[in-house]
Amino acid sequence: MFNDNCMNGAYLGPGEDLKLARAVDSLQLRCEDQKGPTRLGGAVVVSTIGTPCASASDADACAAALSASWAGDGYLVTRYNPMGCINHYLVWTAGDEVGTVRTREALLALLGPVDTLADADLLIWADGYEPLCVGDVTEGGVEVQAKRRISDCPMQTNTYVLTVSPTGQVSEVSVQEGPQGPCIGRLAPGAPEPCLSAQVGRWLAGVAALEAGAAVAFAQLRDELVHHGAPEALVRAAETAVADEQRHAAQVGTLARRYGADPLPCDAARVPLRSLATIAEDNAAEGCAREVWGAAVGLFQAQNARDPAVREAMTAIAADELAHAELSRALQAWLLPRLSPAARRRAARAQRRAWRRVAKTAQAPAEAVFTEALGLPTPAQAMALLDGVSRAG
Ligand SMILES: [Fe+2]
Ligand SMILES: [Fe+2]
Repeated sequence: MFNDNCMNGAYLGPGEDLKLARAVDSLQLRCEDQKGPTRLGGAVVVSTIGTPCASASDADACAAALSASWAGDGYLVTRYNPMGCINHYLVWTAGDEVGTVRTREALLALLGPVDTLADADLLIWADGYEPLCVGDVTEGGVEVQAKRRISDCPMQTNTYVLTVSPTGQVSEVSVQEGPQGPCIGRLAPGAPEPCLSAQVGRWLAGVAALEAGAAVAFAQLRDELVHHGAPEALVRAAETAVADEQRHAAQVGTLARRYGADPLPCDAARVPLRSLATIAEDNAAEGCAREVWGAAVGLFQAQNARDPAVREAMTAIAADELAHAELSRALQAWLLPRLSPAARRRAARAQRRAWRRVAKTAQAPAEAVFTEALGLPTPAQAMALLDGVSRAG
């Protein structure tokens, strides 16, 4: 299917098992950053099954219609993919006809009865699951296995057994809860979860990917600030933060290698430039809550990690994160007077929600290996830290 879990990174589905309601010459999965060609590169063909326009009576007209179908309304699913773009849709050709699939209903109409593993995997992929390409066609429907990230702070991915009925109804038969991962810094919109494990090196590799993702988030923010005519000082601070986060990714990546794990690649994707109201909501949660918390935890690690290399890295990183927390506050002070009362309330709610999530994470017990080697706070220490941060804030 259209997914590297199934296709070992190739991203190109074989299609043999995909049973569509109508015969098509080709089916393409495409993604783009926003409608039509953009400065971020426009639509990208992620994978193609079959040969476009193979049985068209007028191949040129079919090819022209195929390329004209780049722009359209709405997307089948918005999710991260390694090619960088996030908004996905399908385009098919059948004889002289060209059509797009931009809704779940349209996908179901194209699939007809969901009666093969590939049909079910494509549908659950569009629903936001990661198909594991393991399953069976049973009497009640197609039973498939899949993963899904259910929380990004703390990061947690669960594994599911799902049943997909012939009409496309998806039910969870069983859920296996995955371990909780880190919750540090600013997440880029659309960022994927790094592969996390209970092992220190892998955990650090996950944090390195988050740091690299934070660089993408700040690059996006810098462009948005320029676009919206923000003061030069804010633009410069965002620019500095990009370099800071890139440096953090390298520093934590070095630590990950020290513990025997290769840093994970940064796959964070840019999104279309956002409105001031959306930036304020994001900054309230990611900046005014999570970066403040990240800075506090970093300072704690700088003092408490047993490993001197961790102490040294966290001393430098925490100082930068404090500057990012300051940038977030200054940004919010510039944004809020420019927003409607409703948008201001939404930003305040986003910030409260983010702090509640941080508090939930703080209470989760960390394994001793993390508290000792990395100096991460125990639940009691984290709650005391949180208390201090909220009184200071
Ligand atoms: Fe950072
Ligand atoms: Fe940061």
